Parts: sequence; structure tokens; C-alpha cells
Amino acid sequence: MLILHSPVDMHVHLRQGPMLSLVAPYTARDFAAAVAMPNLTTPVTDAEQVLSYRESILAAVAGHVFEPLMTLFFRPFSRQELQAVKPHILGVKLYPSGMTTHSETGVAELDQAEPTLALMEELDIPLLVHGEACGFVMDREALFLPVAERWARNFPRLRIVLEHLTTRQAVTLLDRVDRMYATITLHHLLLTLDDVLGGLMQPHLFCKPIAKRPEDRDALQQAALAHPKVFFGSDTAPHPVEAKEAPGCAAGIFSAPVALPALADFFEQHKALDRLQGFVSDQACAAYGLRPPRKEVRLVRETWTVPRRIGTVVPYLAGKPLNWRVDACT
Ligand code: DOR
Ligand code: ZN
Repeated sequence: MLILHSPVDMHVHLRQGPMLSLVAPYTARDFAAAVAMPNLTTPVTDAEQVLSYRESILAAVAGHVFEPLMTLFFRPFSRQELQAVKPHILGVKLYPSGMTTHSETGVAELDQAEPTLALMEELDIPLLVHGEACGFVMDREALFLPVAERWARNFPRLRIVLEHLTTRQAVTLLDRVDRMYATITLHHLLLTLDDVLGGLMQPHLFCKPIAKRPEDRDALQQAALAHPKVFFGSDTAPHPVEAKEAPGCAAGIFSAPVALPALADFFEQHKALDRLQGFVSDQACAAYGLRPPRKEVRLVRETWTVPRRIGTVVPYLAGKPLNWRVDACT
């Protein structure tokens, strides 16, 4: 048996409407808190939208001990706007425009983000960033890293969290830059581009940033197992099956139903089960100064098969056996 204390998922897409009702309970069952991304069909760009999205999430997860940690979609903000919204958010999420789902209204010229970043530094509001810049798809994260490094140099007190790392180079940046942290997903610990495209194309493994090379995956694995500035963010990102199994396949992997069991499998395989608590809670709490609700999540070593469908969505690892199961949450 394995007990996790207040696990937190630092990057989730909970969506809206019927999809929110379908998927949010999976996150709320297994985690004490989760960081809700703001890339809704109409992005969450002001305090009123933050509060109303938070209410919809709470309504969808009624009965669970669970705290949604809200984010604001980056745009040029005034000091007054940021001051007013600060008590209601964990941070501001920056999407370079066009890099992923509903990011069209993201930042087109990255340099123009700097005045708002200066205010965020002054007000101690963390920056969460989808770290990809325009360029060849396999190089987009590497192309963004000099921008991240420049921002860290220009705004040394700003906490920067690079979301969903996919490259070895990004891991090395964490060691060079003081107040820089990162999330890693479950799927980027397990996949390379070969799994997505090397045989028949696998739409349910297609996500942004795209999974990279074996040496990148190995560096991510080592970081997840040991790096104190890295923590879990699933990037669970459900899309209806007809949007995935289609020309123009939507990017995103719905991993919430399997996240903790599959992580337990992975950490056990690497003889590091004792490190899982740090990865799924303690390291994030230290980086953000978080105090999630108290919640004990008990996993038992018992084989089960991941369902092939959950409502309209195909979950990650559908049809595959997992060796750990979430037994109870108290
Ligand atoms: O694959 C992804 N899907 N990556 C993201 O950054 C966004 C997400 C989504 O919202 O579907
Ligand atoms: Zn995401």
C-alpha cells in the first residue's frame, strides 16, 4: 500500500460545460488541488471570469475535498488589474500565440510581454509558461529557452514555471536559473515521437509540445525521479473522440483517470516509490508556498485495466493494465 499526502496536479485542462462535468471528478477524486488552465474557448482574462470559472469547477466536483487553483490567461495587464486579481489566482499563464489549443489570442511578440512581466515580478505573481516559440515543431521548446533565460535575467525575482518540459536542454536550464521551476507530465515520461508517429499514427498520443527523442525522455525521467525544482503537472487535456480521430487531430491527452496509478508504476519500476510524494506534492508546495487541503490518497497494488472509453473521451493508456489502483481518499 502507498499513501500520498495531498497530491496536487499542477497543470490540468478541466474544460467547460458537459466536458467539465465528465472529466473534473477524476482530478478531484485523486488530487487535493489542481492548477486549472485558462485556455477556454473564450480565455479567462479577468477577475470576473476567474471567479465564475472557479464556481463552475466547484459545482462539477461537489463532494470531493478539492481546491481548484486558478490561472489567468496572459495579456497586457495594468498594475490595478493584477492587484485586484492576485488574491484569486496562483499565477498567470502565458501562451505564445498559435502554439496549442485556444492560444490564438496569446502573445505574438514575446518581447512585448516584458512590461507585464515587470509588474508580475513586483507583485510576486508567478509566470506559468507554455514554453514553445515559432519554428520547426521538434525545436520549438529549445527555441523558447533563450527567451525564458532572458526573462529570468531581466526579472530575477519573478518565479517562472516552464510547463510540460519535453527536452534535455530545458532540464539543464533549471540548474542555471535560480527562480525557475518546471512541470513534467506523465505522458512525456513514457513517450517518444516514435510512439506517436513511428508506426501507425496514434491520435490519442498526440499533444503539444510533441513528445521528443529517447534522450529527452530519459532526461525527463531522471528529473522527475530526483530534481527538487520539478513537479507533476499532468496536462490532462481531453478532447471528444471525434476531434481526435479526425483529420486535423486535436492536441491533448486525457490522463487524469490514470495519473497516480501510472506514476506509481513508473516510480516503482525505477525503485523510487519513496520519491513520489515529493514529485506529486512537496516540491510544488515548496516552489509556490502552497498549502493544499489535507487529503490522504491510498493506492493499493492491484492490477486493473484502464477503460477504453470514458464518456466521449478515450483516456490515456486505454485498455492497458496498471499495477496500482487508487483505493480510497480521505
Ligand atoms: O496537447 C495539449 N493540449 N497541449 C496544450 O498545451 C493544450 C492542451 C489543450 O488544451 O488541449
Ligand atoms: Zn496544458
